Amino acid sequence: MKNLLVTGGCGFIGANFIRLALRENPNIRIINLDCLTYAGNPKNLEGIAEGENYRFVRGDICDAGLVNDLFQEEQIDTVVHFAAESHVDRSIEGPAQFIQTNIVGTFNLLEAARKSWGQNAPDHRFLHVSTDEVYGSLGETGYFTEATAYDPRSPYSASKASSDHLASAYFHTYGLPVLITNCSNNYGPYQFPEKLIPLMINNALNGKNLPVYGDGKNVRDWLYVEDHCEAILRVLDQGKFGETYNIGGNNERKNIEIVQAVCDLVDELAAPLAEGRSRRELITYVKDRPGHDRRYAIDASKIRDELGWEPKVAFEEGIRRTIRWYLDHPAWVESVLDGSYREYYEKMYGGR
Ligand code: NAD
Ligand code: TYD
Repeated sequence: MKNLLVTGGCGFIGANFIRLALRENPNIRIINLDCLTYAGNPKNLEGIAEGENYRFVRGDICDAGLVNDLFQEEQIDTVVHFAAESHVDRSIEGPAQFIQTNIVGTFNLLEAARKSWGQNAPDHRFLHVSTDEVYGSLGETGYFTEATAYDPRSPYSASKASSDHLASAYFHTYGLPVLITNCSNNYGPYQFPEKLIPLMINNALNGKNLPVYGDGKNVRDWLYVEDHCEAILRVLDQGKFGETYNIGGNNERKNIEIVQAVCDLVDELAAPLAEGRSRRELITYVKDRPGHDRRYAIDASKIRDELGWEPKVAFEEGIRRTIRWYLDHPAWVESVLDGSYREYYEKMYGGR
């Protein structure tokens, strides 16, 4: 792997991935293609200079001409495809953009790789980053394995499921060197504060209500983002073409437990609320999300047994690190919330 096209590298996981990949592989060149939606923020990559190892291209994965040109110009041999609309609540409000980016955009990248790489490309890789949400919702017991039938329930998960099927079809039909990863919920630095953990941290810091959907007993399997990024590097290095790898934290928690943990840590690490009130008092149960999946749980034994990957960061450690990061980066949170990072972008990259 020499010339990596990373899509969506200004988002939460993409930015963490680029930082890790450049740290661990000083000889690679990363081309980060990101159109900077509300979720994309060049400040997530502050400190990474453009040059031999890194280039940022502002552009849409749905733009076939641009993507084809990049493959040629940069001699791309590896794709790590993160770019997506990623928030379930937004997909309920407005699904159209999810269809466009997640399905049409993925199709477009697969086509560009097929045209550029031809039939026999053993040294190339197309890693499609996906989610455990494609498998649907579990009851009290059981786990998602790589053999679990797809059963997506939200426009977000349905669009991701479609893109997974397209990626898999390009392996079977055209022999494209495709790898697919399906990961559980991530948390960590640079996550946009619309997702559960950063939203709760930010509201708790500011003494605002903490909106918990339904009864708060929906279960997610939480993984520290750097562990996910390490798993992706491992799959790129050792994964078998055409295979899917589930990635998970072996760390199931009810939403209410997550929110309580955030409250207690913010109480411990940040300035106290007036009259020493506990932040748990801010928890407010609100109307449930439509079609809210009850439980996700990943069986990650395949990637552990075949590729030797396991999560390193325990939840207690990861959540503490995450809260400290948000406490230490108030300017980042501010800029993301008030849109000033867009002005920053225009100033830094305007017209490109
Ligand atoms: P994110 O929303 O934080 O970032 C998405 C990035 O993609 C942004 O930088 C955005 O500007 C960019 N983007 C969106 N549409 C684009 C387009 N048409 N062209 C170019 N760039 C575009 O998302 P994330 O949480 O970092 O997730 C990254 C990937 O990982 C997604 O594919 C998501 O489905 C998958 N995933 C996420 C999680 C999670 O917990 N966040 C878990 C499993 C899998
Ligand atoms: P989210 O971070 O949106 O991830 P996903 O829906 O992709 O799993 O939400 C995680 C869980 O937290 C999910 O069960 C919905 C719940 N949730 C709340 O209870 N309140 C909130 O304000 C948000 C954003 C999510």
